[in-house]
This record gives sequence, structure tokens and C-alpha cells, in this order.
Amino acid sequence: MANRRPVIAGNWKMFKTVSEAEDYAVKFLEEVKAVTDLDIILCAPFTALYPLKNELEESIVHLGAQNMASADQGAFTGEISAQMLLDVACTYVIIGHSERRELFGETDEEIAMKVQKALTSGLTPILCVGENLNVREEGKAAERVQGQVSRALSGLSTEDLSRVIVAYEPIWAIGTGKTASSKDAQEMCASIRATLSDLMGLASERVPILYGGSVKADNIAELMTEPDVDGALVGGASLDPIGFSKLIHNANPLVARVEGI
Ligand code: PGA
Repeated sequence: MANRRPVIAGNWKMFKTVSEAEDYAVKFLEEVKAVTDLDIILCAPFTALYPLKNELEESIVHLGAQNMASADQGAFTGEISAQMLLDVACTYVIIGHSERRELFGETDEEIAMKVQKALTSGLTPILCVGENLNVREEGKAAERVQGQVSRALSGLSTEDLSRVIVAYEPIWAIGTGKTASSKDAQEMCASIRATLSDLMGLASERVPILYGGSVKADNIAELMTEPDVDGALVGGASLDPIGFSKLIHNANPLVARVEGI
């Protein structure tokens, strides 16, 4: 990993009320307060962001949202703006998660606009890309994923591109218990980096690329040994504070190396 700081992000999806989120934060902070070697992000539902802002203040855990609008403000019923997220101390936002693409019809064009808005607003976008099973079986996974990356990011300056995180999440591995093998994850993360390199040259070496899809405490260390896998976006296994903190401790690349995994 070329001097890239690892990132572990939890994606709670549509889980946790305010009181559940507060309870989680107290337990979680206790477990991860000594972590210094990676960035931890909790991407919570909108209603939990403000209470989490208070709980996580001055802690090492960063706050993220799971979606946002590309518009600044206006008559967009049900939407949330970048300013609203900044106002509750969010610094990250997931953009283009496959559930947004598949269940809510988000297009590459909308995703590109959201990435751009996040960047101009000062949020770090976590851009999600990934192929479904059919595409993988047709042998077109790399083509699909590279297309998603370039459609979302082309036109951005190298400076802006340097502030993006990309998460490779094969749809067939999300919530299914089927993780991509670390070799498959590496292959795709390397091909994403090659696409980034076409867009931004050598600076692509600084962009964190995460893997997501059934990441657990017992498979993270192996994934992290791959040179282009810089961390993980974790759904189900981020819902329990003790389990998620275990995953974070296991993600420490130094531990993985010492144990020779
Ligand atoms: P999972 O979800 O870890 O439950 O597979 C990952 C994601 O959708 O971000």
C-alpha cells in the first residue's frame, strides 16, 4: 500500500433509531479510542447524524451520510443537501451505493453531479461502484466497473480527484455472505486504480480504494494484505459496536503482516 492510510467505513443503511445510535457510539468509542493507524467512518441514517455529532465530537471517529442531493437547496421533497450534512459535522458521504442505483434508479449522470457537489461543498465522497452477478458471469465486470468510475469522475481536476474515496462493492457479495476472494478484490481494485491513473496520472496512487461486500472481522485481515485494497465499506458487520471494533482491530495491516496472513 503506497503510503495510503487505511479507511474502514461502516454503512448502517436503514438501521438504528436515535437512542440506538447513541448507545452504539458510547460502546464503540470505548473499544476504538486507542486506534491511531486508520481512519474510521460511521455512515448513519440522516436522523442519527445530529445526535452522533454530539457523541463523536473530539473523537477519532468521523461521521458520514449515505446519500445527498446534487442541488444546493429548493423544492426537492425528501432530499438532503450537502450544507445540511456539513451542519451536523458530516465530513464524508456515500455516493452511488448499488442500493441507490438499483432500488432508486440513480444514474451515472446523477452520481457524477453528486460527487461534484460533495467536493465543492467540502465533503469527501465515497463513490461506490460494482457489477452484478450476470455481468461478472459474462466476463464484463472490469469493463462495467471502469465505466462507472470514469463516468462518475471524468471532468474533475486532479486536486478534486485526490479527495475522492472509491469503494468497489460487487453486488453479488453485498449482504449475501459471499465475499469476493481477496485475489478478485485486488484485481478489481487494481483495475480501478488504472482507470484513476488515466484520469489523474500518478496521483492515483494516493486515492484510497475500499472493498465492500460481506466484509467481516474474520476476513478483513486477508483482504487488507492486498496491495490495492486500502480498507473496507462494511454493512451488516458494522451494526454491532463490539463486532465492528473487532473488525477494525483485525484490519490493522501491521497485525496482518506480523501474523503473516
Ligand atoms: P454488507 O454491505 O457488508 O452487509 O455486505 C456492504 C455495503 O452494502 O456497503
